[in-house]
Order: sequence, then C-alpha cells, then structure tokens
Amino acid sequence: MAVALHFDAELSDDERRARLYRGELFLYSPRRATRELCDFARELIREAFRPRDPEVAQHDLPVEQFAAILAELKPRFIHHPESKRLIRAVLAEFGCDPERTYFDVPRLRTSTSDAYLTSGIAYAFHPHRDTWYSAALCQLNWWLPVFEVQENNGLALHPRYWAQPLRNGSREYNYAEWNRTSRFIAASQIGEDTRRQPKPEEEVDLGGEIRPLCPPGGTLLFSGAQLHSSVPNSSGRTRYSIDFRTVHRADAERGAGAPNIDSSCTGTAIGDFLRCSDLTRLPEPLIEAHDRGFGRPPLPGETR
Ligand SMILES: [Fe+2]
Repeated sequence: MAVALHFDAELSDDERRARLYRGELFLYSPRRATRELCDFARELIREAFRPRDPEVAQHDLPVEQFAAILAELKPRFIHHPESKRLIRAVLAEFGCDPERTYFDVPRLRTSTSDAYLTSGIAYAFHPHRDTWYSAALCQLNWWLPVFEVQENNGLALHPRYWAQPLRNGSREYNYAEWNRTSRFIAASQIGEDTRRQPKPEEEVDLGGEIRPLCPPGGTLLFSGAQLHSSVPNSSGRTRYSIDFRTVHRADAERGAGAPNIDSSCTGTAIGDFLRCSDLTRLPEPLIEAHDRGFGRPPLPGETR
C-alpha cells in the first residue's frame, strides 16, 4: 500500500489529523519551538554525562553506571516544567488548538549502539503499534531527534502494515495493569527485559521500512496505529530523541481516528493527557468510556 510522506506541509490541524488517520506521514524542518525543546533536552543530557560526550559515553562507562545516569536524567526531563512549557509552544507553532489538544509528558529515549543496553531504561523497541499499548486510535506520535541521527540509529516506520493486520500479543495488555506492575521497574531491567509487552506473533517483513531522517529539532509526525520500531543501532553513537503524543478532544469524543485492524488490548492511556491551555485532564466520563473500549471497535471474534 502506498502512503504519502508530506514534507513541511502547510495544512490545518484538522486536515493533517484526517490524513494521519489514513496512515499518511509528516516530516517537518526545525522550527523555533522544536529547536528550543531539543536544545533544552541536549543541555540536560550533556549535564548528566559531563565531562563525557553523551553520544559516545557508552564506550567508557560500565553499563550499570550508564543506566543509573539515564534513570536520573529521564524523569528529570519528563517531569520538568520547562518540558511542558516547550511542548505547548511546539503544538501552538504547529497550529493545534490549545483548548482541544491534549498531550502527554514528553519522553526522552535513548538507543545505544551495538546492543550495549537495549532493555529497561533504554529499551530497543520491537515493531509495535502504540494502539497495542492501550493508545486511543486518535493518538498521534511526535518524534524529534536531539542530536544528528543516521539511517542506522533512528526510528523505522513500517507503513506496509498500515492496512495489514499482524498477529500480536495486545490481548494480554492492559494499561492500568502495566502501570501497576511494570513501568517503574524499567531501570532495573539490565541485560534482559522481563516485562511482558505486546509483540508481533508472526514474522514481520521489514522490507520497505522507512527510516526518516531530519536534523535535530526536525519533527516526524505519525499515527499511533502506525507500525514502528527502533532501528538496531550500529552507528557507534547513542541516539537521543524526544517523543510525545497528542489527542484531539473532538476526535476522542466522537471515536474518530485510525482504523483498528489488529489491536485487542484493554484499558486506555488517554487519562494521562493534559490540555495545552490549562493542563487539565479529559473529563472523567470520557476517560471511562475509552477505558471500556469506546473508540476501538472489537475485532472480529474478539470478546470483551
Ligand atoms: Fe511507540
């Protein structure tokens, strides 16, 4: 299936979302707010690894020490008030309505080279859709590299699976359950990651994958239903990137979004999202409706 890849498209947010829900992809050049967000992340990262260069520090640090630095650095970035301020500035710059656009806290991701650390705090993501992890079908993913990325250390998209179901383990995933049992032990998962995650249960054809490259502060935007993965890093450099997600309230209310072709997880992540204008959450009845499966029609043969 062919998908469109838009470059610096000047579309309204409504039009862009409609296209993202059809599997189209958007790549943007650095803008003022996205540059600021990446500069801020880069500063925190450099501070955490000083005097080492964060992109190559993995080569002269014991892996436990590297993981310990990330275990402090990542929550610092995630929960920093400046991160929230900058995300809101980014979304304003992209023309998202601050009254109806909700975002979750930005994550700082690392992908180390040569399988130095691929579990827990620096988990190397297997091909997945966020919708296997209780994401709403209207969830959009925003991804920004913090340092220069290369074709062998970034993110891969697998758009051939946009309309092609993959057998997967999402039936065993429930967001609330994951939060209770697995999320907070990430830093202890060195060597092997024992947390149960929804994975493909058949071979994934990686041919035809797209590895979007943009300069630091550039932005990739795609639907949370798009199959994506971490590119196995063989670049010799640790990749640092920022990602965050958004949902538009009107879409969450009317159950709009990408089609569900293969996800049968339960629960919802939508309760984490904060409104741009005032950082309030979505109304409780709407979160509860999504928790019960609103907006995600059951798959053929699925029982709830
Ligand atoms: Fe993801």
